[in-house]
Amino acid sequence: MTMSSFTAPAASRGSSILFYLNGQRVVVDHPDLDMTLLQYLRSTGLTGTKLGCGEGGCGACTVMVSRYDTDESRIIHASIIACLCPLVTIDGKHVITVEGLGTSAKPHPVQERIALLHGSQCGFCTPGFVMSLYTLLRNNPSPTEHEIEECFDGNLCRCTGYRPILDAAKTFADIAWRQGTVAADGSIYVSEPKAKGGCGIDGCCRLQTSPEAVVADGGSAIVHDPTKAPTSIANGDCDKGSGCCKVQKRHDSGLAECKVVNQAEADKAAVIARFQRYDPTQELIFPPFLIRYAKRTTSDSEPQLRPLDITSTDAQSWCQRYIRPLTLSELLAALEKHPDAKLVAGNSRLGMQIKLKRSKFPTQIYVNDIPELRQISETSDGVTFGANITLARFERVLDAFAAKHGAQRTQSLAALRENLRYIANSQIRNVATIAGNIVTASPISDLNPVFLAAGATLTLASTSGERRVPISEFILGYQRTAMRPDEVLVSVSVPFNNEGEVVRAFKQAKRKINDIAIVTCGLRVQVDESQCVVDAAFAYGGVAPTTVLAHAAARAAIGSTWGDRATLDCVLGACQQELQLDYAVPGGMAEYRMALTTSFLFKFWAISCDTLGATCAESMLAHELGDGDEHVVSKARQEYAPVEDRVIVGKGVAHLAALKQVTGEARYVDDMPELAGELHVGLVLSTRVHARILGIDAEKALALPGVVRVLTARDVPGENHWNLFKDEEILPSDTTHYHGQPLALVLATTRKIAQEAARLIFVDYEDLPAVLSIRDAISQSSFFDETRQHINGDVDAALAAADFVLEGESYCGVQEHFYMETMCAVAVPKGEDGELEVIASAQNLTETQMTVAQVLGVPASRVICRVKRLGGGFGGKDPRSVPISAFAALGAHHTGRSVRISLDRDEDMQTSGQRHPFLGKWTVGVTKEGRILGLRARIYSNGGFSRDMSIAVLERAITHFDNCYHMCATDFLGRVCRTNTQSKTAFRGFGSCQGMFLSESMLCEVADHLGLSVEGVREINMYQPGDLTPFNQELVGWNVPRMWTQLRAKAKYDERRQAVDEFNRQSIHRKRGLAMLPTKFGISFEIDFLNQGMALVHVYMDGSVLVAHGGTEMGQGLHTKMAMVAAETLELPLESIFISETATNTTANTSPTGASVSSDLNGYAVYNACKELADRLRPYRQRMAGELFAKIAMAAYLDRCNLTATGHYCTPDVGFDWDKNEGLLSFYHTQGVAIAEVELDTLTGSHSTLRVDIIMDIGRSLNKALDIGQIEGAFAQGQGWTTSEEFLHSSSTGQTFTTGPSSYKIPSAMDIPRDFRVELLEDADTSALKTIFSSKGVGEPPLFLGASVFFALRDAVLAKRRQLGVTAPLHMESPATPEALRMACEDQLALMVRIPQDLREGKVPSVIRI
Ligand SMILES: Cc1cc2nc3c(=O)[nH]c(=O)nc-3n(C[C@H](O)[C@H](O)[C@H](O)COP(=O)(O)OP(=O)(O)OC[C@H]3O[C@@H](n4cnc5c(N)ncnc54)[C@H](O)[C@@H]3O)c2cc1C
Ligand code: FES
Ligand code: FES
Repeated sequence: MTMSSFTAPAASRGSSILFYLNGQRVVVDHPDLDMTLLQYLRSTGLTGTKLGCGEGGCGACTVMVSRYDTDESRIIHASIIACLCPLVTIDGKHVITVEGLGTSAKPHPVQERIALLHGSQCGFCTPGFVMSLYTLLRNNPSPTEHEIEECFDGNLCRCTGYRPILDAAKTFADIAWRQGTVAADGSIYVSEPKAKGGCGIDGCCRLQTSPEAVVADGGSAIVHDPTKAPTSIANGDCDKGSGCCKVQKRHDSGLAECKVVNQAEADKAAVIARFQRYDPTQELIFPPFLIRYAKRTTSDSEPQLRPLDITSTDAQSWCQRYIRPLTLSELLAALEKHPDAKLVAGNSRLGMQIKLKRSKFPTQIYVNDIPELRQISETSDGVTFGANITLARFERVLDAFAAKHGAQRTQSLAALRENLRYIANSQIRNVATIAGNIVTASPISDLNPVFLAAGATLTLASTSGERRVPISEFILGYQRTAMRPDEVLVSVSVPFNNEGEVVRAFKQAKRKINDIAIVTCGLRVQVDESQCVVDAAFAYGGVAPTTVLAHAAARAAIGSTWGDRATLDCVLGACQQELQLDYAVPGGMAEYRMALTTSFLFKFWAISCDTLGATCAESMLAHELGDGDEHVVSKARQEYAPVEDRVIVGKGVAHLAALKQVTGEARYVDDMPELAGELHVGLVLSTRVHARILGIDAEKALALPGVVRVLTARDVPGENHWNLFKDEEILPSDTTHYHGQPLALVLATTRKIAQEAARLIFVDYEDLPAVLSIRDAISQSSFFDETRQHINGDVDAALAAADFVLEGESYCGVQEHFYMETMCAVAVPKGEDGELEVIASAQNLTETQMTVAQVLGVPASRVICRVKRLGGGFGGKDPRSVPISAFAALGAHHTGRSVRISLDRDEDMQTSGQRHPFLGKWTVGVTKEGRILGLRARIYSNGGFSRDMSIAVLERAITHFDNCYHMCATDFLGRVCRTNTQSKTAFRGFGSCQGMFLSESMLCEVADHLGLSVEGVREINMYQPGDLTPFNQELVGWNVPRMWTQLRAKAKYDERRQAVDEFNRQSIHRKRGLAMLPTKFGISFEIDFLNQGMALVHVYMDGSVLVAHGGTEMGQGLHTKMAMVAAETLELPLESIFISETATNTTANTSPTGASVSSDLNGYAVYNACKELADRLRPYRQRMAGELFAKIAMAAYLDRCNLTATGHYCTPDVGFDWDKNEGLLSFYHTQGVAIAEVELDTLTGSHSTLRVDIIMDIGRSLNKALDIGQIEGAFAQGQGWTTSEEFLHSSSTGQTFTTGPSSYKIPSAMDIPRDFRVELLEDADTSALKTIFSSKGVGEPPLFLGASVFFALRDAVLAKRRQLGVTAPLHMESPATPEALRMACEDQLALMVRIPQDLREGKVPSVIRI
């Protein structure tokens, strides 16, 4: 492939493409036919566009593509998914990437607002969000808040919890937001900022002071104790004390006074007030040339849109020939000539197939540039839509037809519109076509059921003519149609509807948006004047290998009276009988799918009866049965007090790299340009769950051009065993322990060749027995040797004294980290002394360094590991990233070349570990009031095949089982199950969350049994200040009871409880739930020696400061906080401090970044180093009072003052002895309380989180805005863990079933609370807190509060069961998926689809939790 400016003569144009990229014309001759737009962009150095999944599900690769649409005679700007877009289809279009908008020095307003309103944490998802919002604004400069939220339906973020992104984006929605500021009471006032950078007040102090204005007293360096208030700097505004304009303003203006009550809103308002105005006229224009190009009106000397016929220049290319006809006759001729050719439209389906199934289509014909396939025509009978209209345009035209012909005639069109809005996401709908959806004949197509129900007819064409086929005769089976190879789908005709006809569509997925259906349907009924059914069609997807019509149900309906209860029973019964599923149906959820078919039919019954005026009991409830999930725009509020006694620490400073992240300038590991001769690693993954490896045959792989080497265990020159327990091999020597385990490495010149070659390697196995789940492991006694037991008090006596002794089980499942940047590393050999540099997306650089050194058999001093930033980690890149670096290092060692490894999302999810699932078996003794007297708990985790950190995780589960409750006598025994699954590992919350979840589930069952409210049981058992935990730790600084009371009052819990109860009395099928949940999270590494931090600080002679410390930046803002600590301690402006990276040659023997201790440990280390430097500089500052710091630093240097200092810190006193029950378990506790309110559709299990209130005690925050971001992000992760994120394995093969965003559902922007309020506890006594500036760790503790959504949902299910009179105990496991929620309701429709025991016998669901 070559790139040049366009000079080729007209005759050779058919093999090159022309497009614009960020305003520049580009011509690519003989483009690589396999290349996606994303690969192309990144190959040109435009690395702002990221690869998050490669399957269209995450939006990290979103770019804007503009084209001139000859059908609509206008320019269309569309956000698209670059990872599924073939480069070759970009001909004639203008591609704008995040780099085309602005730079960190001069950002675009979209970029500026997302950055400064804290919408970017790790930043990996950020360019995608920027581009989605940018595209919306290009199409509509004044969007509504609703439109703004919807534009993010294809973008996932794992860090922020979306709230700050939505807040930032909504500043484009409203004139008040755009130009004004928001007061603490929520009112908005308009104020034009007087000048950029100032506060808006004439003579603002900020505008008058030098960059060193924040240095107190003209530079007197009084270094203060970080645990106390500074003495020399008294006010939080500037050094003018009461003369500061902000203080003046506070006195002058009631509004300003109001603003400082809640500093969070005031900070936000101040930032918004300084935003640049958004001026749509300043955008990059659509090149006029491309309009002429598309219209084919260019002059003779210029190129124009023309048919393409490109033959690959690479014999290994998967696509060898690409043909783009521009007319239907050209297409049919090409198809006749190449009957085996694959037609390509939006490529959204095909791209997935190529990516995930490695399907190859040697000849492709692109059909999306053929006007005849995009025509729309109308007759008196209905509308005919061109087959290759994009789904986005389809939505628009359906709206137009509904408006033109009215609701009755366009029932079918409206039903199509209804399902369309839930198909994929905006980016996919912008390119995907109707034809692609129909022809795929997928069982989960959302259009086919509606087309079937509507009685649509398809027109097919070939060179021999056209034919019309009813869609019911077109779809033959699983991905099989009646279309001949020489035919194309030209159009689909949908008839208008008659009087008495009702059509509706329903869809249920695991996640509300951006998800494929579990069951989807189109339902139609037609009645005559007497409500007698004359026609009916009930079409379903997701219940058979293809879309099906429930003929028996339709027959049962026809001739009956619609509205007559007997008809309903008959139709439901027929439907249930007809759409039976086997217990082991592929994909699982047999009963749920069946329940959905009847539930949808029931909904349709009620709605259609209501529409047709057929009065019946159900029609009265129609208002409850529509789409209650209609998108409600979210709102949010954050609350914290101003920081009056510090200059920098505590303030809501934006993430220091935010502007680089929003502009695509921020570099991640895989953004590094390739070095000369660089090789790529392809992983050979085990296809057996547990087997002896008899042989590995690499012959075919080695024969593939571009393959350089294949490495196995035999090629490990040093120590193959690694990790703390040395119970795991880098590459297995004789046994594979789980499906997906890397067995061998292929080194090749490109990633594609390496991956392809890896699949050619033949591994000979001898299968061994396997264990997957905790329950299996218990029954087979498959445990690691270590046990953890802790007994406190006489449990037998306590149980004997109890009014009730209850027994039960609690379970919480696996959670995948789903960091947006997958695992990657680059190893660069230095060529001498065995030196090697490893740049790795890793949270634990020291373990990486040590392991790489051991694997290679060299001293650790020869290996440097470094990283600038990670695109998210959450614990997943702690130990589990180590083998990835070791693979790259092995490759570099053997070849002497730089080696890169970057995992695909599916490889990442198959190979890396996840959060441990836990099972707790408990026996608890309680009084009749609900007081716990004694507890015996047997706690089991699934550790996977190796120990990794499982023992420490188990310990934390045990030590957090008490959560916030005094349990009197306790006996905990924990075991880690050894199974044939990925080694489970660290994940934000690290066992604590699982322990708390198990006990909170237990409390729910206790409360149910006693007929008490669980909140009451929580209260009665709650620790009081000074209480001892079972681990003999006195609760010092115990604020949970206070926060509980405060939040209960502030969030009006009691009134809302009444309102929820009232709602539930009124509503039959929708139920609300409310839950109030506390948390306490012990801060310290379990392993004592890890509780230490390191820092190295250089003051350069120009006054700039370079800080290095032991923690890695992975979005949590650690570098920002460390820079703030340094700036505060050195009394310098924040801009003077720079942190470049984390590296083992600047800070050695560091602890992993995790356990929420990194700012504690490294913060104090940075402080210690800076304090030493400040002490050394004090004489110079005193001597040179009033001078710039640069001059002071130079003077110190010339005076031979050492301007470098190291800092070290160890957490004092921590260390718990399990045997003696002695020693300090946690240095302190971070605490919080949350209230969640939800609404559940009991017929589908779909739910909305209506409101969440949180209060957190995080001490005196180092950066309140970043910490609020941590709370919101952690909450969303906890919500996902306990609701939508279900990690599954195949029960037959053990293979991971959930390998990407298409099957594993992290929360989307629409899932977060519609009303989200977060408050920091202020004025708490922090005197006992001996941490850096009295702050507390915050990264992990809020995660458990996300489970409040689970418990609120449980409350809603209980309400339904109470209404039905179900008295059986409610046992709910995490996650509470729609399936679990719906089936737990146990209504008639759920019970009638229960598969009887005899039909389950000998069967297991095809996919299982472990
Ligand atoms: C992230 C993601 C989410 C998705 N979610 C959903 C969802 O929620 N619901 C849903 O229904 N689908 C979903 N899909 C599946 C799919 O994208 C859509 O069904 C889409 O409509 C396919 O259209 P396309 O133009 O991209 O097809 P392509 O991928 O280009 O082609 C698909 C098939 O159609 C054939 N084809 C295309 N045009 C013609 C023609 N004129 N004549 C004959 N054959 C033709 C192709 O040869 C190919 O076999 C999703 C896909 C992705 C990637
Ligand atoms: S990388 Fe393209 S959608 Fe995820
Ligand atoms: S900031 Fe969104 S994934 Fe990290």
